[in-house]
Amino acid sequence: MRETKIYGHRGSMGAYPENTLISFQKAIEQGVDGIELDVHMTKDGEIVVIHDEQLDRTTDGNGFIKDLTLPEIKEYSAGAKFQHFESYDYETWGEERVPTLQEVLELLHDFPKVELNIELKTYIFPYFGIEEKVLSLVEQYGNNRKVVYSSFHLPSLLRIKNMDPTAKIAWLLMQGISHPVDYMETFAMESLHISKDMVLENVYDYKNLLQNLRVWTANSTDEIKQLLDLQVQAIITDYPEKALFFRNER
Ligand code: G3P
Ligand code: CA
Repeated sequence: MRETKIYGHRGSMGAYPENTLISFQKAIEQGVDGIELDVHMTKDGEIVVIHDEQLDRTTDGNGFIKDLTLPEIKEYSAGAKFQHFESYDYETWGEERVPTLQEVLELLHDFPKVELNIELKTYIFPYFGIEEKVLSLVEQYGNNRKVVYSSFHLPSLLRIKNMDPTAKIAWLLMQGISHPVDYMETFAMESLHISKDMVLENVYDYKNLLQNLRVWTANSTDEIKQLLDLQVQAIITDYPEKALFFRNER
């Protein structure tokens, strides 16, 4: 039986502040096969790991990433908004800051088998030059790990592929497209990253593609078990510990 890989979504965001070093560290400790994270570019051209275009929801700061420098962004806590989590512990993650991609790659350095899915959040702001910077950071600090670049914005992925034809790209989809295999072949995609509902509600449409699918964001026991039964390539989940438990008991 082919083993479905388990990717921690924004680290282990079901229990730790999303896209922070502690969240990635915990996902690694739980034994994930891979980590998913999101990147944006600051005013001074640094690549930072955060989901939204703005600081507001996940930090105690506010404003758009594109309008702030890295030192300005580092002033704010990336843990303070998550004090309602059961695992909240000021000693260990009260001081979390928005990490740079370089900092995350350095954290992963000693775990070269842990795969990385870097989602380029380029569908609202284009962040001119972000693709080149991300590739360069991975080349310098990636320790030869498997890295998959994903985005809802197809041009970003094509730029990556142009700059590095060996790069693994994956288009993020939340709506069905006609002839998905055509897209994969034409643009030499490694996989498609699709929402769980697309797969679970239309299994027949994807029956020949299951081994090319990384599916997000499957969190309930039922969803995780269904996707394990389908033997999709990977499950991206907020609760990697739970998904690993069900995967490993098989
Ligand atoms: O990569 C899968 C998933 O992360 C895409 O959606 O909004 O959680 O970044 P979002
Ligand atoms: Ca994401």
